[in-house]
Amino acid sequence: MRQNSPQPHIVVVGSANIDLTTFTDQFPRPGETIFGDRFQLGFGGKGANQAVAARLCGGRVSMVARVGDDLFGPATIRNFTDRGVDAGHVSITPGVSSGVAPIFVDSAGQNRIFVVKGANDRLTPADVDAAADLLRSADCIVLQLEIPVETVYYTLRFARRHGIRSILNPAPGQPLDLAEIANADYVIPNETEAEALSGRPVRNLDEARACSRRLHERGLRGVITTLGANGALWGDVHVPPHRVQPVDTTGAGDAFIGSFAVSLAGGCGEAEAIARANVYAALSTLAPGTQMSFVGIERWEAAWGGK
Ligand code: RIB
Repeated sequence: MRQNSPQPHIVVVGSANIDLTTFTDQFPRPGETIFGDRFQLGFGGKGANQAVAARLCGGRVSMVARVGDDLFGPATIRNFTDRGVDAGHVSITPGVSSGVAPIFVDSAGQNRIFVVKGANDRLTPADVDAAADLLRSADCIVLQLEIPVETVYYTLRFARRHGIRSILNPAPGQPLDLAEIANADYVIPNETEAEALSGRPVRNLDEARACSRRLHERGLRGVITTLGANGALWGDVHVPPHRVQPVDTTGAGDAFIGSFAVSLAGGCGEAEAIARANVYAALSTLAPGTQMSFVGIERWEAAWGGK
């Protein structure tokens, strides 16, 4: 395994979406039209969010992704560049839309998300090969599931073969080949994603512990389950939350992953990296939007210092 680095290089192989967020407490019935309260357009996608969070937390970050040849594609690449994320391996795919995500957020800050994958679904193992030099230089490779699953498996195998630390956020939840994802050093699901992986209910801490044990028995190594307002579980160990009153929880899981990757590759032990990620994720719920709600390193350190 590679040594830890003061400014870790994080490479995210994953999705970029445009988030179309409607704030509303009501949903139309079939054939009905109703008014929503408010709308926000923003840059999102689990991969892009994790990359931006890692950058804001002080990492050197590169993105491997595909966007569409529509209005959103060049804007997404510009957003990466403006935020200091290297987009040298983000390409525009002819004849395909960019990934988009219609999102609905209620007054409790809870979200419901549809994802139309568009160009994200065209990210292939050949793109990973094309980025092989970049990936070999990474302190940590981060993946999610809004790109083809074969590309995820291929990248995890690459990381394992080259001794590069890897993190899989198995989101959105779907059944996976556990033997393939056992190549990841860390698998970080939320409760519903843990259910999809294990086929068992995860409704409370005890069930999350049982699920985690089962996934370890099936060969997975570091299993960290994020529990929203209840913090996170690292194997059997509960890491308590940083308590806040959320406005919009969209992207909080991504904030967690990006900051965890930077802390871990920067030399923190798992327990501290998770506790720090809990703080960073909680801070992201205090403002509406996904990437727009992510805070900078000063605010994160100030909140962490208060622990
Ligand atoms: O995790 C939040 C993200 O999920 C949103 O940005 C949306 O694009 C979907 O990918």
